[in-house]
Amino acid sequence: IERTLVLVKPDGVVRKLSGEILARVEAKGYTLAELKKVTATREQLQAHYAEHEGKPFYEPLVEFMLSGPVVAAIFEGHRVIEGFRALAGTTDPTTAAPGTIRGDFGRDWGLKVQQNLVHGSDSVESAEREIGIWFA
Ligand code: GTP
Ligand code: MG
Repeated sequence: IERTLVLVKPDGVVRKLSGEILARVEAKGYTLAELKKVTATREQLQAHYAEHEGKPFYEPLVEFMLSGPVVAAIFEGHRVIEGFRALAGTTDPTTAAPGTIRGDFGRDWGLKVQQNLVHGSDSVESAEREIGIWFA
């Protein structure tokens, strides 16, 4: 069965949207396999965001992800990776479609980092790698 790593990022936790976000994923029909609230370490984030190292938003992104706890979850189901990314909406919350998590709850706050509430793995390989980082 396919698995994906979902993170409710610090903005989602601070805004008390964790339950709403997890509920949408469950309501879509995916199975919650693992769940925890954790404060990330810099090492975890460097591993998680290795593909973005060197990009202008990399440092602000890591600092943002260290700014407070995240909720980490593993969801399971056929095509859950695609399915969660459809629920999340596109990266930029300003233009993410209404009806998606980012489109309904996100906006641009004028910061260097896009605070877009959630992370979801983008491929089977990424999912297995990321699950190893957050659920070692
Ligand atoms: P994730 O599910 O978080 O991985 O989002 P994504 O796959 O839609 O985006 P991507 O992996 O390309 O980027 C990871 C994160 O970096 C995004 O979720 C944003 O928080 C941030 N980010 C990506 N692109 C930009 C950008 O062009 N500018 C800024 N400021 N932040 C960005
Ligand atoms: Mg990504």
